[in-house]
Amino acid sequence: MNREPFSLLSAQGVSLTYQDGDRQVYAVDAIDIQIQPGEFMGILGPSGSGKSSLLYLLSGLKLPSQGEVFFWDRAFSKMNDAERSALRRKQFGFVFQQPYLLGYLNVLENVLVAAENPKAHLNRALELLETLGLRGKAHRFPNALSGGERQRACVARALLMEPEVIFADEPTASLDHSNGFHVMELLDACRGKGAVVLVTHDPQMLKYAHRVCRLEDGKLVE
Ligand SMILES: Nc1ncnc2c1ncn2[C@@H]1O[C@H](COP(=O)(O)OP(=O)(O)OP(=O)(O)O)[C@@H](O)[C@H]1O
Ligand SMILES: [Mg+2]
Repeated sequence: MNREPFSLLSAQGVSLTYQDGDRQVYAVDAIDIQIQPGEFMGILGPSGSGKSSLLYLLSGLKLPSQGEVFFWDRAFSKMNDAERSALRRKQFGFVFQQPYLLGYLNVLENVLVAAENPKAHLNRALELLETLGLRGKAHRFPNALSGGERQRACVARALLMEPEVIFADEPTASLDHSNGFHVMELLDACRGKGAVVLVTHDPQMLKYAHRVCRLEDGKLVE
């Protein structure tokens, strides 16, 4: 398959295999996908279908067992670890499936953790917390937050540096519908000329998605 010349992200025949005893399991199985600038893409699929694995490949967190992923014209496999991690730090934002915050930092410090100069980003951090209904809890430590509050803090952290691509893996899983829609609205508003790649099991959260891909057993089914 030919790669479109100006895709922001493009996966060509990517697979990710895991070793399960003496058996190879295909978490992602020969997927082609192109994501254009400005696109909000949703990924749906049952548990274990490979959604998180596909996000790891598209973001360069993992390298495929077969195939290649490109960010614009740069193949992840041709970058060294330092280049890939700089790309993730500076141009990508992540909301992982398991909300992970540093327990010894408060909410605000967690949101600012990736900023080289936290003072320069303080106002944006506070604005994001305000938008997400967490301004009043900015000084709390993670162990004094609910699961949904932790998840929203992770969303604020992912958006702080205005990433070109936002990868979000079930960012609304612990949220009620109203907070869930709010997070979706914010992701959409922060998308700009970049892209959002959203994994969800809740079709209602796909209101802002321009395109939805379905995964089954590691394969795209539409
Ligand atoms: N480290 C691992 N070792 C072996 N198999 C793994 C590993 N991580 C994931 N898998 C397998 O790969 C497949 C895809 O997993 P993945 O986490 O991508 O699914 P998912 O669609 O994100 O599921 P969920 O909706 O439950 O989060 C599953 O069958 C899973 O068991
Ligand atoms: Mg997952």
